[in-house]
Amino acid sequence: MNKENGAETEMKKKKIAIVFGTRPEAIKMAPVILELKKYQSAFEPCIIVSAQHREMLDQVLSVFDITPDYDLDIMKRNQTLSDITSDVLKGIETVFVKEQPDMVLVHGDTTTSFAAALAAFYHQIPIGHVEAGLRTHDKYFPFPEEGNRQLIDTITDLFFVPTETTKQNLLKEGKDEQQIVVTGNTAIDAIHYTKNSLVNHSALDLMDAKPDQKWILLTSHRRENYGEPMRNIFEAIVDVVDTHPDAEVLLPVHLSPVVQKLARKHLGNHKRIHLIEPLEVDVFHQAMNKAYLVLTDSGGLQEEAPALDKPVLVLRDKTERPEGLENGTLKVIGTEKANVKDEVTALLNDQKLYQKMSKAVNPYGDGLASSRIVKEITQYFE
Ligand code: UD1
Ligand code: UDP
Repeated sequence: MNKENGAETEMKKKKIAIVFGTRPEAIKMAPVILELKKYQSAFEPCIIVSAQHREMLDQVLSVFDITPDYDLDIMKRNQTLSDITSDVLKGIETVFVKEQPDMVLVHGDTTTSFAAALAAFYHQIPIGHVEAGLRTHDKYFPFPEEGNRQLIDTITDLFFVPTETTKQNLLKEGKDEQQIVVTGNTAIDAIHYTKNSLVNHSALDLMDAKPDQKWILLTSHRRENYGEPMRNIFEAIVDVVDTHPDAEVLLPVHLSPVVQKLARKHLGNHKRIHLIEPLEVDVFHQAMNKAYLVLTDSGGLQEEAPALDKPVLVLRDKTERPEGLENGTLKVIGTEKANVKDEVTALLNDQKLYQKMSKAVNPYGDGLASSRIVKEITQYFE
């Protein structure tokens, strides 16, 4: 309550616009939305999705039972970065003008997040950046994400960084420490949520039917891996499976037409390589739990797999998540065919190495990131 002119008046609720568009943003923003909703007298969340991803976004919304207030529905087949940027920038303007949010929350480094942050800046609305501060310091790796996150952090007001290392990245860039709060990664909050889901899926049945197999959970979708690098990865995995009768691969294929085509062409006809549709996140987390190792170019999987005690081989030349390298749960192996084959083979055969990587401590959070974020937003308005 506020005392104004001798009369007690209600403190105006703060309208928080939460903007996202792709699968990983949705997974990592869902816990923040659920937390904000607990404080109905203080906050009015306004959920705006760009639908940069359509089907893969809707899967997440349904798992977390979230209904957007606005859906820009921008996805096009083979969309370019300019398509996404301009469609989000134009589409969101009308919403900001109508809703007049007190703060805009964006996540990570997608083009939806960058365009939404830019729109917020144009309207002089404070920006909270969840998962701020990640860096490779190479603007083309990953592309365009490294550029996007640096651009967002240039205009951010509140930095919610997942780790101490990411805080240091921002301090080195001259950001004000008062604006930075270390929260942990909301990906771990999401895992705490999905672990209570009761799920059935044929992919889980398949894994259960062959418990002695060493299941490799493979995902690949990065734009910089389109073409030769992805071909190398897929050829390497065929070699591994051909030489290891106890190895079996589960690959939920990203809906990008480029990935779909390459995966079908190179992996489509192998009886121990299973190409499946993208999984709902709760099913996916359970599949990861049943897997022997994770082979991926994803960002989010590098955070989630260590929380489930799974080693991760990272199909990139660089990672913005060095904490897992230092802790020993991640290894960056690039995309050269021989190297991918050797590194996967080593983890399949060398139990000492496997134990070392799977027992390392998860450095990405304790599942309470969203409550820290909401607490900080509360303090910002006080
Ligand atoms: C985007 C993000 C990337 C993030 C990834 C997560 C950018 C530039 N990239 O990359 O940072 O790691 O999401 O997966 O923001 N498609 C569908 N249905 C879907 C989703 C995608 O059909 O539900 C197809 C569409 O043809 C689309 C294409 O996939 O054009 C690529 O999607 P896009 O969002 O442009 O790029 P991603 O590689 O998914
Ligand atoms: N994921 C999912 N279903 C799948 C594959 C991945 O729900 O079939 C989840 C995964 O648990 C993680 C997120 O999607 O939370 C990672 O998304 P992606 O790899 O597409 O993007 P990135 O993290 O690289 O930005």
